[in-house]
Parts: sequence; C-alpha cells; structure tokens
Amino acid sequence: MFRKSLVAVVAATTLALTACGGGSGSDSGGGGASDDTITMGFAQVGAESGWRTANTKSIQESAEEAGVDLKFSDAQQKQENQIKAIRSYIQQQVDVIAFSPVVESGWDTVLKEAKDAEIPVILTDRSVDSTDTSLYRTFLGSDFVEEGKKAGDWLVEDSASAEGPVNIVELQGTTGAAPAIDRKEGFEAAIAADPDLTIVESQTGDFTRSGGKQVMEAFLKNTPDIDVVYAHNDDMGLGAIEAIEAAGKVPGQDIKIITVDAVKDGMTALAEGKINYIVECNPLLGDQLMDLAAKVVAGEEVPARVVTEETTFTPEQAKEVLASREY
Ligand code: AHR
Repeated sequence: MFRKSLVAVVAATTLALTACGGGSGSDSGGGGASDDTITMGFAQVGAESGWRTANTKSIQESAEEAGVDLKFSDAQQKQENQIKAIRSYIQQQVDVIAFSPVVESGWDTVLKEAKDAEIPVILTDRSVDSTDTSLYRTFLGSDFVEEGKKAGDWLVEDSASAEGPVNIVELQGTTGAAPAIDRKEGFEAAIAADPDLTIVESQTGDFTRSGGKQVMEAFLKNTPDIDVVYAHNDDMGLGAIEAIEAAGKVPGQDIKIITVDAVKDGMTALAEGKINYIVECNPLLGDQLMDLAAKVVAGEEVPARVVTEETTFTPEQAKEVLASREY
C-alpha cells in the first residue's frame, strides 16, 4: 500500500455502511490486497436514477480492470451516510477517497479530517462549495451549468415561431445538489433571451422517477396551461410522462419535454417522440477516475478540474444511436 505515516483516528463509531462489494474489493477490513495495490474508498450518492446505476457500474468495472481494491458504499442520498463512509475510509487508512457529494455544502470538516490523515480526495460527478480547494485534489465531472444552458438554448430556438407566452414547469434535482443548482442557473440564463418563456412552477423531484411523477401530477392539477417540462434528469422526465398520459395529454406534443442525462430509457422515450430534447450527462467516469487516482497516489500533479465531454440529442439522433447506447 502507498500509505502514509500519519494515522488519523477519526470516528469512534462502528459504521454500518451499505456496502455493495464493488469491483475488486469489499467494504470490510482495511488496506489493500498487496503492497502495491491502491485501495480506494468510494462514497456513492445512492441508486436514485438510471444515470447513477450506470455510474456505479462504470466505477466498479474500471476498478476491477485497474486492479484497484475498491471499498464501495451507497449513501442512499443522505449526506450523513456519506460523511460516515468517508470517516470509515479514513479509519481504514485507504490510499485515496473518491466521492460524489449528495449536496454541495457542509463538507469542510470531514475533508479536513482526510487532509490531516494525508489521504487525497477526488471529487467525481458533483462538486462541493468549499472555498478551501486544498481539501481535494481534483474534480472530475460534467459542466452542469453548460448542460442547463444547452437545454434553454434549444427551447429558445424551438419557441422562436410560437406566439404568446410559453409556460414552463421545472422538475428540479435534489435540493442543494450541484446539478440541481447549476442546471437551473444555466437554463434560466439561456431562456432570459426570450421574455415569452416563463418558469411558472418549479419543485424538486429528487432525481427519481416517482418524485417526477408525483410533482408533475401536482403541477397538472394546479396549473392549467403547461407548455413545457424541463426536468433536471431523464428519470424525473419519465415520471412526468406517466403523469401527463394519466391526465389524458400527449407527452412530446401537448406538453414538450426537455431532460438531461441520455440514459437508455430516456433515449427510448426521445426516439418515440415522448421527450423532445435530451442534453447528455456522461456517467462513464470509471476509467478517468482510476487514472487520476493512480496519479494522486503516486504523488503526481493532476489538473484541478477535468470536464467530461458531452453532446445533445434530438429524436432523430436518438433513433440513430439507440441500439449502440452503452447505458
Ligand atoms: O449528478 C448527476 C445527476 O445525478 C444525474 O443527472 C442524475 O440522473 C443523478 O441522479
């Protein structure tokens, strides 16, 4: 193991982590399989969406391929579970900790504990709002503001010939999560170009299909003329489709739908014309994460920010790529 001399005794409590035995390791015991094996503690958000499932699979498979001893925990979308998991990894003296923060705020204390224990931290997928950037080594993931902008730009163009107001309802991701904050910001900035475009309702569906359906049902009851749904992920958009169909309306026609992610279920609905536009968010971060981990453990320099490359899809483009879509 590439361990350092300093051992931080951090959490007194024994943790009952929701372990998934990912990749080449399990959650019990400390240390790697041999002296040169990298041990990574990974604290995942949960299993809230198709995107998350693909992301977990990518990390577990890449760890196995790279020979990384992966200790994996599922926080079930609760920050306190992620903090417990990180403290457990510190106690186990892993070589590197990676995590996708459920929410942006409230990480400084535990990140400081990792730093004091000389364990490098890599942020994947989502960022934190800590002003002290020495608390983590790099952040690998999408530009969520840009994703929101792409969604808004498409709507501005699509609505150019429409006359009168366009009423938008927004299904936000988990409150306080970076993708929810940033996708809202980017979308609002883009639609400001057309004063006819207005967000008339905006609520969280927590990035889940059931959440999207429930919130959309309420929107349909409260708001008579909904023209567009902007959902911060495919799963909430798919939940909204169920609610729209149950209300006797045609998704994609009576109400246009824009989502983010481009997972297979979303792309299928796009190809069927039930969704009108999807902005891609790439969950396949495993290989890049393992590369970055090897570098930081070896003491090499890594870029402070690694942005994932992404595209967008119309229904026609979805039909072309659907069969070969990996996730
Ligand atoms: O952080 C990435 C987001 O989290 C994905 O867009 C969403 O599906 C997931 O839950």
